[in-house]
Amino acid sequence: MRVNKKLLSSLFSLLSVQSIATALSITPLAADRAASRYVIENPLPPADQTHEVVRVAGTNVILISQMSNSVLLKATVDDHGVITDIGAFRIGESTSALHGLALSKTDPGKVWVTLQKDNKLVLLNPIVNSIKAAPEVIKEIVVPNPGLGPHYVGEYGDELWSTLQDSSHVLRINYNDPSNYTIYTGIPRPIFIAQHPDNGKFYTGEDNSASIMKIDPVANTTSQLPIPETAGMTPVGLIAGPPGRGIWFTLLGNATQGTGTIGNLHKDDTITYHTLSSSPLSKKAALLHLAFDPEAETNYTLWLLASSIVNSNALDMIIKVTFDAGWSKIVSEDIVVTPTQLNKAHRILITPTNVFATELASSKLVSYYTL
Ligand SMILES: *[C@@H]1O[C@H](CO)[C@@H](O)[C@H](O)[C@H]1NC(C)=O
Ligand SMILES: *[C@@H]1O[C@H](CO)[C@@H](O)[C@H](O)[C@H]1NC(C)=O
Ligand SMILES: *[C@@H]1O[C@H](CO)[C@@H](O)[C@H](O)[C@H]1NC(C)=O
Ligand SMILES: *[C@@H]1O[C@H](CO)[C@@H](O)[C@H](O)[C@H]1NC(C)=O
Repeated sequence: MRVNKKLLSSLFSLLSVQSIATALSITPLAADRAASRYVIENPLPPADQTHEVVRVAGTNVILISQMSNSVLLKATVDDHGVITDIGAFRIGESTSALHGLALSKTDPGKVWVTLQKDNKLVLLNPIVNSIKAAPEVIKEIVVPNPGLGPHYVGEYGDELWSTLQDSSHVLRINYNDPSNYTIYTGIPRPIFIAQHPDNGKFYTGEDNSASIMKIDPVANTTSQLPIPETAGMTPVGLIAGPPGRGIWFTLLGNATQGTGTIGNLHKDDTITYHTLSSSPLSKKAALLHLAFDPEAETNYTLWLLASSIVNSNALDMIIKVTFDAGWSKIVSEDIVVTPTQLNKAHRILITPTNVFATELASSKLVSYYTL
């Protein structure tokens, strides 16, 4: 029999490979991985513009303002932020322009709303125990002349502070005595207001002027803090940080370019800018709004909302940003893109259990969670 040497030798080499393979060590490893991420888009009754969102404290009731038809939505949500029941209520006329929403602190469970075109601030009892029950009006305050077009409203002790977007003013008004008020003149256009946690002054971002107005209600003076072109433009979201950490705001950018930049305004009015950098998606993100994690004082987490609202090239995204313990440097960014794009993502709301965002142009409420 003729032996095929070549075949034999390859057979031997195969066997030897096999015998080496049996010596190969296989070690079980910890299979640690990040949590799975879930993004739910809850459809809402259709409207051209869905704006603000708040949660009535201590309940599973979410309130949403639809400005284009002046409708207040009242929804119950489950643990994952899925809407389980919803009611819709016209506030005023279809042209009243329901816009700002803010929880009352002195009257828990009640909510202040702005009617931008009716020029009114209104306190509502949303009636949380029945989704189908119409909210009740508790108080109506007419914005005094020459103020026009309340956008944001917030309650600070006995006072309401409101940005009068259409006349570029800021209003301070005592809601128990509406004859006690001050109208401060800003530049186009005051959008949000926050009271500085460390110096007590009030600040408002003026989106079309790349400037922040500081208001000292005791001295009754105002001043402007310009935003340098190198940092960006269009301050929109502006909120108070944890105690000792100043005010924080986002810079949206313009119709063709986002900024990926947020500002931290300290108690001496100096500003530190932080620019996102972890990904091409975040570098020039068009940042519209922001909200601190309820545990921000211990986990240094800030949530940002990127939006296509003025820039049709921009992505609509939720970005979780974690800082170092001194809030001086971003240490991580976690980006999630909403399934519907060009939705003009509008507000972000963080509750102890959920992350919500409104989609202005697509009548949806996003719920984002990880498991
Ligand atoms: C106006 O209201 C503020 C509180 O909002 C209060 O401190 C002040 O005393 C009031 N002024 C008058 C004249 O009542
Ligand atoms: C405070 O300043 C505003 C204008 O900024 C003025 O209308 C108002 O009269 C002043 N109030 C007092 C008490 O000086
Ligand atoms: C937007 O800003 C960028 C950067 O400053 C600039 O290059 C661009 O021309 C601006 N676009 C518009 C439409 O103003
Ligand atoms: C923040 O910290 C708390 C506990 O300290 C944790 O439960 C929560 O998930 C954290 N949030 C984020 C966004 O990491």
